[in-house]
Amino acid sequence: MINIAIDGPSGAGKSTIAKMVAKTLGITYLDTGAMYRAVALHVVNCGKNPSEEEDVKSLLSEINISYIKESDENKICLNGIDVSQDIRRHEISKYASEVSKIPAVRIFLVDMQRKIADTSDVVLDGRDITSYVLPNAKYKFYLTANDTERAKRRFEELKAKGQDVSYEQILADVKDRDFNDMNRDFAPLKKTEDSYEIDSTEMSLQQVVDTILSKIKEIDENDNARVNEKKLNNQVAKQAKDKKKQRGRWFYKGIANFVRKVLKVLWITKIYFKENFPKNSKALVICNHYSALDPCVIMSRIMGKDGKVLMKNEITANSFVDKVSKELGCIPVKRGEADVGAVKNIIGALNNNQPVLIFPEGTRNRQNSKEFLPFKQGVATFAIKAKAPIVPMIYYKKTVIFGRNKLMVGTPFYLDEFYDKKMSEVKESATQFIIDKMKELREEMDILVEKCGGSKKRYLKYKENQSKESSANVGDSSEE
Ligand code: DC
Repeated sequence: MINIAIDGPSGAGKSTIAKMVAKTLGITYLDTGAMYRAVALHVVNCGKNPSEEEDVKSLLSEINISYIKESDENKICLNGIDVSQDIRRHEISKYASEVSKIPAVRIFLVDMQRKIADTSDVVLDGRDITSYVLPNAKYKFYLTANDTERAKRRFEELKAKGQDVSYEQILADVKDRDFNDMNRDFAPLKKTEDSYEIDSTEMSLQQVVDTILSKIKEIDENDNARVNEKKLNNQVAKQAKDKKKQRGRWFYKGIANFVRKVLKVLWITKIYFKENFPKNSKALVICNHYSALDPCVIMSRIMGKDGKVLMKNEITANSFVDKVSKELGCIPVKRGEADVGAVKNIIGALNNNQPVLIFPEGTRNRQNSKEFLPFKQGVATFAIKAKAPIVPMIYYKKTVIFGRNKLMVGTPFYLDEFYDKKMSEVKESATQFIIDKMKELREEMDILVEKCGGSKKRYLKYKENQSKESSANVGDSSEE
């Protein structure tokens, strides 16, 4: 909201100026002095003394102030009746100054003023706007003029309205009201340090308006410059931080590369049908899980530097391990809850044409059995969402260091028959589909090791004979 606060002594020209500024900017003008005048008018209309705090307080609950817009003017209504003229009577000025000393009156009116300023772009003028009503307003002005000039203006104004007043009386009243307004206990008139002071004694109305408008422009420009400078500083700080981070990354990258090399050497694993792994493509790699070494072999021997692997975040709780494992392509995942960040990372990596390794059993098979543990449904979700091929892999047995480990890479498959369906309805059947594929691969792995002695050549021959046999069987049965 635009809030322009103007304070100053009576007769400084605040209301005329504020009205002109509001009109130029196309926003509302709120004359807060008129509100005090309306309260004073109600008090005298009720035959009470405006200086008697208790009397005035008791009347507040029956006062309702509202506005009606008439052509360009905001008319002030007291309990539904337009009192815009009445409140300008000379004696009401004095009474308004009296009621304005009463804290309960100020609290009552300030509350209304703040609500209006909160909900609309507004120029407010008064005595305590910059210091008390809106101390945080962006644009604050203190408008003044010497007292003889102010008395002269007021005298001419009242005479033009046909009121019978003397200049000396007006000057005495102006001085009196200045004293009252500046010396009351509660929210007195004063110039705040952050208000821009304009002495209008020698200025025309338009000159004052122009001064205010150009100050507003200057404040905005300074503000923009500050915002831009802050943005620039943030940018520079971010760049420095990124650079530092990048420098730090070289260290962890180096360690990660070293780890990769060591892994390749230590875990001697015979990989069958590595050519089934699609290079430079998105892929969800799934594998049975016996040992903590399983991901190491697959990542270092098959998936390459672009590969990602899901890892429970307890492992990466240590900051050093976390940094190295990130360089190695680990995506930490919180177990036992929906980890939105991890899901985003997985889908993001797949969409970036990177392979992601997931152990669908969720945990290691500590019995080292050939039977799978129950599969989690995440793999199906990711494969469907990212339309990624699934690359099944099977370890024959638990991987051991310096052992003759064996790993078979199966033919990639898609879950395309589930793409157009509602995820919640197909998750289970898609997961079953994946389990069946893994079971098939497990059978092939067993044949390769147990029937063909771990020889790819013999396995291929075996498969060839098997297919010949089955086609011969088909032929036999068709002849019958
Ligand atoms: O600006 P004015 O002459 O119409 O104001 C009438 C009286 O109300 C004035 O004597 C001081 C008081 N007033 C105030 O105390 N606080 C304001 N924000 C506005 C006016």
